[in-house]
Amino acid sequence: MPRLDQLLSSLGYGSRKQVAEFVKAGRVRLGDTVLKKPDQKVEAAEVTLDGEALEAPDGLLVMLHKPLGHICTHNDGEGKTIYELLPARWMARKPSITSVGRLDKDTSGLILITDLGDLVHRYTSPKAEVEKIYEVTVDRELDPALVAIFASGTVMLRGEEKPCLPAQLEITSPLTAKLTLMEGRYHQVRRMFASQGWHVEQLHRSRFGDYTLGTLQPGEWQMLELPPEA
Ligand code: URA
Repeated sequence: MPRLDQLLSSLGYGSRKQVAEFVKAGRVRLGDTVLKKPDQKVEAAEVTLDGEALEAPDGLLVMLHKPLGHICTHNDGEGKTIYELLPARWMARKPSITSVGRLDKDTSGLILITDLGDLVHRYTSPKAEVEKIYEVTVDRELDPALVAIFASGTVMLRGEEKPCLPAQLEITSPLTAKLTLMEGRYHQVRRMFASQGWHVEQLHRSRFGDYTLGTLQPGEWQMLELPPEA
């Protein structure tokens, strides 16, 4: 069991010193009992702060609708980041939160964010075979022949040695399509289309594995239940 001050601090509630102060002030309880000793060992699920259960004590998993123009990095020197869209307290969690893979600055849509390293690995490892659906708008009329080309497992991306895994393309209008990928290489969708002579003008991810955006608007996020094996 963790120490109370370590637990609260790792969940982003403050430094060990700050946390010790609000423990001593009687704001933390275990069931009905007020806890006064910061070094006491506790079961996280039973602790409350100001009467509220602790936030995601077993790990955080969040779905964000990434808007255009935000980047998936912690380095805010590079522009607006996805982390600016989330509660500031989460930035102080340890282990720190990170996105599950990345979306380009000019791509919108579903991105998962978590502090569970195993989950990141599980969802991004090449063996994971997580289905991702992208809605694509291109610069000129799509050729139905692309469906077979993308499904063939032979599309080569510049600078890479292995062809892309078979991908499912559904042409939805002359300039739009849905592309389902089982892998996640750098700029993969844009590069797949570029390899065939199309430029991707707009890109949006509508599904990641079992998750879809539902009614989440750009910039909004939703806390998810941890999957059973997390
Ligand atoms: N493929 C891309 O080209 N960009 C993304 O952001 C995601 C997939």
